[in-house]
Amino acid sequence: LAKVEIELASIPEGKNVVIKWRGKPVFIRHRTADEIEEARNTDWKTLRDPESDEQRAKKPEWLVMLGVCTHLGCVPIGEAGDYGGWFCPCHGSHYDISGRIRKGPAPLNLEIPNYDFNEAEGKLVV
Ligand code: FES
Repeated sequence: LAKVEIELASIPEGKNVVIKWRGKPVFIRHRTADEIEEARNTDWKTLRDPESDEQRAKKPEWLVMLGVCTHLGCVPIGEAGDYGGWFCPCHGSHYDISGRIRKGPAPLNLEIPNYDFNEAEGKLVV
């Protein structure tokens, strides 16, 4: 199936990029050191869908997720919501800077697709 490659150098730190993959939006965030610290220091075992940031991000500076709300499938908005991550305006789900559901009706964290890094070429392959 079709793969998508993204030049990582084209995404500055602290920015989100949205690409299309198999007809779905994929969110890529180049996280800042502060965001990584916040994501990693969250007491994840108490969350609705308990996942550590280490389980969700292969490399801490790159967060790669399907941009599909796990409630009813709307596309959440970046840099929004009460947890510094994404906010789904359809029914008010708040996701944190690791894409984990923190508040609102969504049952699960934003899904992580399969992806890899092509280190030699500085690319992300989704
Ligand atoms: Fe996102 Fe309902 S579809 S909160």
